[in-house]
Amino acid sequence: MKGILLAGGSGTRLHPMTLAASKQLLPVYDKPMVYYPLSTLMLAGIRDILIISTPQDLPQFRRLLGSGERFGIRFAYAEQPRPDGIAQAFRIGAEWLNGEPAALALGDNLIHADHLSDLLRRAAGRGAGATVFAYQVRDPERYGVVSFSESGQALEIVEKPSVPASNWAVTGLYFYDRNVCDYARNLRPSDRGELEITDLNRIYLETGALHVERLSRGCAWLDAGTPDSLLQAATFVQTIQARQGMLVGCPEEVAFRMGFIDADQLRTEARRLGKTELGHVLTELADSPPAHALSHPAMQEAQRALSHPAMQEAQRLGVEPV
Ligand code: TTP
Repeated sequence: MKGILLAGGSGTRLHPMTLAASKQLLPVYDKPMVYYPLSTLMLAGIRDILIISTPQDLPQFRRLLGSGERFGIRFAYAEQPRPDGIAQAFRIGAEWLNGEPAALALGDNLIHADHLSDLLRRAAGRGAGATVFAYQVRDPERYGVVSFSESGQALEIVEKPSVPASNWAVTGLYFYDRNVCDYARNLRPSDRGELEITDLNRIYLETGALHVERLSRGCAWLDAGTPDSLLQAATFVQTIQARQGMLVGCPEEVAFRMGFIDADQLRTEARRLGKTELGHVLTELADSPPAHALSHPAMQEAQRALSHPAMQEAQRLGVEPV
């Protein structure tokens, strides 16, 4: 499976910040916004990624991301001359995809969840159909909205409905089988003149091939398209990182944990980040064997249990704690 990271658009809701800079390169706490969806694609095991942005912004993405070698992956780049809709990604990327299945991530979306990599791998591993993720929001009218039958079957999917049939919004992360470019080729622009991703998803829904994964309340989905949501996303990342000591949306870390780069390469990347806290954490990660096992939440839980005084006392006495 290949991945597309869509990072164009006009970013009008973030003017004047986006008058001279790409929205997806703005900082979300300590990283450029695009690092978050990039990390998500990498967590799904995807190593070939097409970055699509505007003709004026694309050079900055190349400067930031390069060939992808330092993350152990490969980037390709393509221009979207005008923001003619999210589904246009599959017309622009059709030749590059060359008939392969594809995941699409929007460059301003951040997903953080327990066991996210399991969810993503399951979506990426499905041979046929499409997978989208739905999340309960207070303002569904801003998004594509999916409604469900009593048995949990997806019934209908509508773009920005004035009267939403549910509060389940479709997030900016989509997995499609190899039919996606053919379907995208036949789409017609909507009344607002865009090739709508919701229309593409509806094709899968109507053929019974759309899997909708409902993200539970323990998950966080944020888009950073307005000043408030940009600030909320930054605060979220800062809070998790400071409180749990875990990185959010760091492609160097994901590359290491996924086995795309080794500890020496991670050290080199950490050095590039100089004196930052991020560089610090990555150096520690490279130096802390066995990094993969320790990073697993179950392992951390086991370690916490083992360090409990009752457990230590039991171990000292050689008895099983009750
Ligand atoms: P939006 O947030 O819907 O649009 P926008 O980024 O142009 O912002 P605004 O509404 O403030 O003008 O887009 C969602 C994401 O998809 C965002 O990351 C930009 C991207 N996008 C494209 O890259 N090309 C497009 O044609 C569209 C419509 C969106």
